[in-house]
Amino acid sequence: MLERTLAIIKPDAVKRGLVGEIIRRIEAERFRIRGLKMVHLTKGQAEEFYAVHRGKPFFESLTTFMSSGPCVVLLLESESAISRWREVMGATDPARAAEGTIRRQFGTTIERNVVHGSDAPETAAFEIAYFFNALEIIG
Ligand code: RTP
Ligand code: MG
Repeated sequence: MLERTLAIIKPDAVKRGLVGEIIRRIEAERFRIRGLKMVHLTKGQAEEFYAVHRGKPFFESLTTFMSSGPCVVLLLESESAISRWREVMGATDPARAAEGTIRRQFGTTIERNVVHGSDAPETAAFEIAYFFNALEIIG
């Protein structure tokens, strides 16, 4: 099924100059880019975005990290975009991520894991609407 998902190139990757390489991978995997922008989240916005993790031990650190610098957010479309993008990213912890995945190649810690991807249709819908309005979505 043709699906849309939200991808984020996280602040660690932007700071390290990995934006071009990650977008190259996205294009090589034949995702259609339907939206793209750079944003620097406030702490409050990072908390809102990751509200499902509120109360978890890593919530404070995660939202501080996600608001520590600009991110690049992308709206990706393909067949099974949600699961396929998560496969290309690899497991949350780079040390456990499969060989050839973005997190395995570039991630440094379970927190500084370079990229984000929506995990289900409902979260994708929330996350896409969080960052993109109708005028910013192509096609
Ligand atoms: P994401 O939402 O960023 O795509 O990552 P994910 O689904 O693979 O992982 P999730 O469980 O949703 O966790 C969100 C982000 O929180 C950080 N995290 N830190 N210290 C920890 O144990 C821990 N666990 C998760 C990671 O940055 C993870 O991507
Ligand atoms: Mg997640």
